[in-house]
Amino acid sequence: MKLVKTIIKPERFEFVKKALEDKGFKGMTITEVKGRGEQKGITLEYRGGLMTVDLLPKIQLEIVVRDNELDTLIGTLMESARTGKIGDGKIFIIPVEKSIRIRTGETEV
Ligand SMILES: Nc1ncnc2c1ncn2[C@@H]1O[C@H](COP(=O)(O)OP(=O)(O)OP(=O)(O)O)[C@@H](O)[C@H]1O
Ligand SMILES: [Mg+2]
Repeated sequence: MKLVKTIIKPERFEFVKKALEDKGFKGMTITEVKGRGEQKGITLEYRGGLMTVDLLPKIQLEIVVRDNELDTLIGTLMESARTGKIGDGKIFIIPVEKSIRIRTGETEV
């Protein structure tokens, strides 16, 4: 299994969630996070001066999938989260050793 950690623009979240549902991805954990990438945030004009916001609000999705579902998941995320502008986000793929459903004790490796 893999943990797919995806950081996206908050305004894309509903669309991404719908696309995941349509492809049959059910479980996910969502966190409101702040982050920065290559551009180290943005500079805005604010009250007559320039203000640098170096950490921008983002949504982090954590989804654990079987290895054979990984490509579909990545494709769905790429298609639904992408606007083509900077700050669209990043995807990190991390190996997962095991999951355990607490209610039943059912495990998956
Ligand atoms: N190297 C990194 N490590 C951890 N998180 C990162 C890293 N790079 C980006 N992120 C996270 O992803 C979010 C979105 O990054 P962003 O899309 O701006 O990446 P980028 O590499 O700057 O690409 P782009 O040039 O398209 O903006 C960041 O706000 C941050 O939360
Ligand atoms: Mg960026």
